[in-house]
Amino acid sequence: MGSLQKTALCLLLLFIFSPVCKNNFAEFSCHYNKTEYNKTAKIECNGTRNIKNVVIKRCQSCAEESPCPEILFNTMNSNETEKGRFQLERRKQHTVMHLQEVKVTDQGSYKWYLFADSGEQEECISLEITVPEAEPNLIRDGAKLTCLSPIGHPQRQIHWFDDCGNNLTSSAHLVSGEVERGLTSLTSTLNPNPSITSRGYCCTVLYDERTKRNKTMCMSAEGVADYLDLDPKTRKEHVATIVALVFLVLCCFAAVLYYKYRQRAEARGNIVDLIRTLYPVLRQYENTPNQDLRNQDGS
Ligand SMILES: *[C@@H]1O[C@H](CO)[C@@H](O)[C@H](O)[C@H]1NC(C)=O
Ligand SMILES: *[C@@H]1O[C@H](CO)[C@@H](O)[C@H](O)[C@H]1NC(C)=O
Ligand SMILES: *[C@@H]1O[C@H](CO)[C@@H](O)[C@H](O)[C@H]1NC(C)=O
Ligand SMILES: *[C@@H]1O[C@H](CO)[C@@H](O)[C@H](O)[C@H]1NC(C)=O
Repeated sequence: MGSLQKTALCLLLLFIFSPVCKNNFAEFSCHYNKTEYNKTAKIECNGTRNIKNVVIKRCQSCAEESPCPEILFNTMNSNETEKGRFQLERRKQHTVMHLQEVKVTDQGSYKWYLFADSGEQEECISLEITVPEAEPNLIRDGAKLTCLSPIGHPQRQIHWFDDCGNNLTSSAHLVSGEVERGLTSLTSTLNPNPSITSRGYCCTVLYDERTKRNKTMCMSAEGVADYLDLDPKTRKEHVATIVALVFLVLCCFAAVLYYKYRQRAEARGNIVDLIRTLYPVLRQYENTPNQDLRNQDGS
């Protein structure tokens, strides 16, 4: 068969089948944008034909065989459009599910089964919720260090490092508590090993394991310092300052030592002079008690 004939056949097939496809099968597409904590989430599905029925289930994941323990809406059995914080809005080719005041626990997968006169389709949407990220707080109580992340996503982590970058996380103790609507507070306590002296400790709150987004607080011997904006240049300046200070202290110490030595040497010279001048006086004094004794004897 020549290529011309092939093209002609293809065109013929297209001509026959394309109107059939277009007319008979409905297509659907769903959209969702990330939602901020406590705002309204909106999952929106559109069809190329009128959406007759919709079933929405809450599933553990979007995987094929993942269990879906909860049916949120099923328009085939019920005309209900409200279920707690969930609301279903239905217009011909357009169906929207609103979820008010989202909690962290609403995060997950939602499977939609969409039905039209000419076709049906399954769509799975993963709801993602962004959560406020509070600054961590690092406090020292004696030798004990406590890092507090007062509110945030329950999946965040606290890691500890010393000034050499050694990971101390495994020796810290973590306590987590629920604050509100699925958000947690994390408190991590570190009892640094007293036999290992370190110039500083840092606590890192890791918000996202994949992107490594984190906030870090460090504490040095002098107190709390936010190392976040302490770039290597300023660190170098700090080291230079410390070296200069140590040098000055050493100089002062040397000067004091030298001065003391001089003083002692002078004092020794003076004592020799003193003894030399005092010697006759002392000799005289040594004789006086004997004279007294003799006087006592005589009386
Ligand atoms: C959540 O938002 C509602 C208003 O939409 C507000 O009244 C409520 O205080 C908020 N709750 C929290 C914990 O932010
Ligand atoms: C839903 O409403 C329609 C008309 O509005 C009615 O024909 C149908 O029986 C109702 N279905 C149920 C399950 O109540
Ligand atoms: C530090 O150690 C903890 C466990 O002790 C581990 O989960 C974490 O990934 C480590 N962090 C880094 C940056 O190596
Ligand atoms: C924290 O974030 C910085 C980048 O901002 C990254 O270089 C560093 O590795 C992160 N720390 C951890 C422990 O993930």
